[in-house]
Amino acid sequence: MKQFTSVHDVPDPEALVKEALALKQAPRGSLRQSGNDATIALLFFNPSLRTRLSTQKAAIELGLSVMDYNAGQGWQLEFEDGAVMNMDKAEHIREAAAVISQYADIIGIRTFPGLKDREQDYSDYILRQFQRYARVPVVSLESAIRHPLQSLADWVTIEEYRPAHRPKVVLSWAPHPRALPQAVANSFLEWMKLADVELVLTHPPGYELAEEFTRGVSVTHDQNETFEGADFIYAKNWSSYQDYGRILSQDAAWMITPEKMALTNNGKFMHCLPVRRNVVVADAVLDGPNSLVIEQANNRTYAAMAVLKSILES
Ligand code: CP
Repeated sequence: MKQFTSVHDVPDPEALVKEALALKQAPRGSLRQSGNDATIALLFFNPSLRTRLSTQKAAIELGLSVMDYNAGQGWQLEFEDGAVMNMDKAEHIREAAAVISQYADIIGIRTFPGLKDREQDYSDYILRQFQRYARVPVVSLESAIRHPLQSLADWVTIEEYRPAHRPKVVLSWAPHPRALPQAVANSFLEWMKLADVELVLTHPPGYELAEEFTRGVSVTHDQNETFEGADFIYAKNWSSYQDYGRILSQDAAWMITPEKMALTNNGKFMHCLPVRRNVVVADAVLDGPNSLVIEQANNRTYAAMAVLKSILES
């Protein structure tokens, strides 16, 4: 694998899931030679707990040296080609990406959308400009429109808890007080469409996701009906794609509760975290025996290991 910015960069996504599951079984420390003295730079334009630490842990397990940089607090970068840089932006992406490429063999980037200009966000502008000007492989640590490392870990988790039958997997919108990106939901659909599951998306009217991600996916506005017979409930909030970046509803009736989980086939609860307790999901679900959220976060390490190992091998 040459880079990792979406599932489209992965030659065989199912094989990558299997690799992550295999790496989870490997004795700790047994893969420290894989890094071959390489270095990874992790650039964070936005906050992160899981992505930051799990990618560092994955790199350490593979014997990579890690440089971690709060890019959001560094020199403000200009991403526009041909810009006249007489305002607040001190450094152009052309130099920054080229310079970092001298120091690191892989560059990881975490960036969020502005949620104001849909066209710009959906061009995945910051990530694409890094890809364009970096001279080493780029790994998305979540971009404006996708979170592929999360989706890979989610698929790994579903495989670990897969029932004997073909599972019904529901992605459900849930309320949230702040406007959030569509990245996790977009990416989850993109990856799950390739898995052997029955995939259903449920959300209130107005929260339709971009067609490139929902094409071929069953979509409903009836959350309760959709939960019936589900084996996995993946809850996530996102702001409107159509009325871009806006919160159209904070309807508490969409919160995931024990009553709703009772409609499922003893379904497992999933969320990428961080999660707002008793807004997105009730305590009793999050703390209950069917909650997979901590294991999902654990699997972030093995997902990142599988991705980095594949890039190192190529
Ligand atoms: N799920 C996830 O990406 O968590 P962080 O934002 O903490 O990295």
